[in-house]
Amino acid sequence: MDCVRLAHGRSEARMLNWVKAPKEGGTMGNLALEDLVIDNTADGLFRVNRRVFTHPHILELEHHRVFEHSWIYAGHESEVPQPGDFRARKVAGRPVILVRGSDGQVRVLLNTCTHRGSLVCRQPSGTANSFQCPYHAWTFSNQGELIGVPGEEAYSAAFDRRDLALATAPRLESYRGFVFISFDPDIEGLVEYLAGAREYLDLVCDQSEAGMEIVSGTQLYSMRANWKLLVENSIDGYHAPVTHQRYFGFLTEVGIDPGVLQRRRLGRGKSLGNGHAVIEFQPVGGRPIADWAPWFGEARKAELEAIRQRLEERFGSARVQHDPGEPQFAHLSQPHRERYRGHHGADLLSRDCG
Ligand code: FES
Ligand SMILES: [Fe+2]
Repeated sequence: MDCVRLAHGRSEARMLNWVKAPKEGGTMGNLALEDLVIDNTADGLFRVNRRVFTHPHILELEHHRVFEHSWIYAGHESEVPQPGDFRARKVAGRPVILVRGSDGQVRVLLNTCTHRGSLVCRQPSGTANSFQCPYHAWTFSNQGELIGVPGEEAYSAAFDRRDLALATAPRLESYRGFVFISFDPDIEGLVEYLAGAREYLDLVCDQSEAGMEIVSGTQLYSMRANWKLLVENSIDGYHAPVTHQRYFGFLTEVGIDPGVLQRRRLGRGKSLGNGHAVIEFQPVGGRPIADWAPWFGEARKAELEAIRQRLEERFGSARVQHDPGEPQFAHLSQPHRERYRGHHGADLLSRDCG
């Protein structure tokens, strides 16, 4: 852990030494970082040393190189629609409060008291004008300012509430309601960082004429696995027919043409630039927007075709038609997580992931 507190260059040099040093746990041997991944396009060879997924020093290095220098998704503005609404959660291992202040502005406050570091907000969600730390009762407004200090007169003249507001990440940007933070003050703008992933966010947002809202309720799951395995699995269509054979059997049973399923297998993982990726495949038949299929029933045909018509008017037919290779509404699968899990999620990084 000491390494992360050191200056940038020095900490990485030390990490490299650890990774190389046979004495450090003895598991890395003399492997240098650059030997851990073989990416030889000319010979069609791509291999990753599995210590990349298991070695704690690699995880520390990623903490420093990746998560300290990325834009990280913190939540959606629709999760805190009214002044005072908040959601407490972990983002890249740090406790934060996504909150809409009384001034209407959405902020991401670090959920750690500026007195002795206790967790200030212990409720997962709610509406509050202020947050009171349960340890010594310092109170912070929903905009982060320190507004209450019991026994404040006992402090010296140097004590200044203005120095002790709840901290924020140095950067916050929002794209179409998706709020991202970064702990790197010099990071590129969010739109530039998103690269090709921006178009897919647009695709999700544009499909609704009523705007977008995160549906309340949460399904949480966790796993004792390296965070990269989750990312990698999210763009791995290869495992689907085997691991999810029951699902494909079900689709066949309900009448989906096996030929369609076969075409679906022609899906692909696609790089969107800047480390982002998506998996695309032909839908197995119909989507609730833009793509009526018989199993939706005749009664809904006119409604779905009307929606499709309006989408064509707003965005042009090319964005609505089936045309493999281009992002389109017809390709959206109903659980959007299937398409976006590959992006840095709210809490991909945790101590359990080592
Ligand atoms: S740690 Fe929060 S008031 Fe003391
Ligand atoms: Fe899967």
